[in-house]
Amino acid sequence: MSKSAIMNTYGRKDVFFKTGKGSYLFDENGDKYLDFVMGIATNTLGHCDEEMSKVIKEQASSLIHLSNLYWNYPQTDLGQKLIDKSDMGAVFFCNSGTESVEGALKLALKHGKTISGEKNKLICFNNSFHGRTLGSLKVTNEKYQKDYSVDSSNVIVVDYNDPKMLEEVFDKNVCGVILEPIQGEGGIISSTAEFMEKVRELCDKYESLMILDEVQCGMGRSGEYFAFQKYQVKPDVISLAKGLGGGIPIGAVLVSEKYKDVLKPGDHGSTFGGNPLSCSVALSVIKEIDEKDLLNNVKSMSDYIIDSYESLKEKYHLGEIKGEGLLLGFDPIIENKKVLDKLYEKKVLLVGAGNNVIRILPPLNVEKNQIDLLFEKLDEVFSEIDKC
Ligand SMILES: Cc1ncc(COP(=O)(O)O)c(C=O)c1O
Repeated sequence: MSKSAIMNTYGRKDVFFKTGKGSYLFDENGDKYLDFVMGIATNTLGHCDEEMSKVIKEQASSLIHLSNLYWNYPQTDLGQKLIDKSDMGAVFFCNSGTESVEGALKLALKHGKTISGEKNKLICFNNSFHGRTLGSLKVTNEKYQKDYSVDSSNVIVVDYNDPKMLEEVFDKNVCGVILEPIQGEGGIISSTAEFMEKVRELCDKYESLMILDEVQCGMGRSGEYFAFQKYQVKPDVISLAKGLGGGIPIGAVLVSEKYKDVLKPGDHGSTFGGNPLSCSVALSVIKEIDEKDLLNNVKSMSDYIIDSYESLKEKYHLGEIKGEGLLLGFDPIIENKKVLDKLYEKKVLLVGAGNNVIRILPPLNVEKNQIDLLFEKLDEVFSEIDKC
């Protein structure tokens, strides 16, 4: 065992997990943990779903990877499926959330460039999280860069859910606005309908692209396939990853019919994006969400968590529960780390977010008894803390 072989970029718990099944992880001693982190909203169907594992084995023995210089059926089938679910026009596949955001931003910059040389401003929001890539294009041969320069002075940061402030800074030089319909890392904050509609209205007015980052809240986690479907708006671009592959790396940029030809051959690319292995797994995730009616399970289990939380909240004077579907969070009022550490000692995994929030991120097929276990352990933890 050589932990020092790994760069020290994460604060990790001192545990090696060896196997997983459904909502549970098992460590190397065979100890069982309730996992409501789910790879941070990624393992849509829990750990090692049987159908998913079967598809991985089958696809791995027929075709794993080839270049996007050729076609493969899992890619086109998945593209069509995502279009059907979202009512968008076309899809670009990549491998992660941050890459799906990069693709979306490039699309907005290219769109701006087709209108005017000055239309290159991007609007984003306080508390947002869109990824961590820095600048591979910046250090790549100039010919790939020409339409895509982002100077930080062209990035305008606005308060989330503040339509007035947004209107004040918006002008014809904005090529795109990017937001999460539900801010995840920022602390589980949902966009108001008024705000979402204002973004749409201003993007229409100034011919700017409305980009929704659904990397964390998409793929059924909100109770709809896409969180935007809870609002009366349709975006121009959607970024997807995490839950799309249920644990297999895959990301996607979805673009509306109107803007689907903005990016031309050579404008963007990805070596691994759209490989048959990850696409067939994503197809199997969608198939299972549909066949097992998991969007309804998300809604009913979400209500069950919210109801169960109410009595805990009253008993220990906790903050409100926030979010949608199975992307939920609450402020424990005391330091969240203290609660998370004590839960971990009791073999329950939850993860923090934003300013002192604790996220609850079960798989979409979570069962009531697993939620009961969570609340039993939360009750124990808060009662122990109360006694200190
Ligand atoms: C909303 C959102 N966008 C983008 C990302 C980046 O995704 P990745 O870590 O796959 O690059 C994340 C990751 O947490 C996210 O929550």
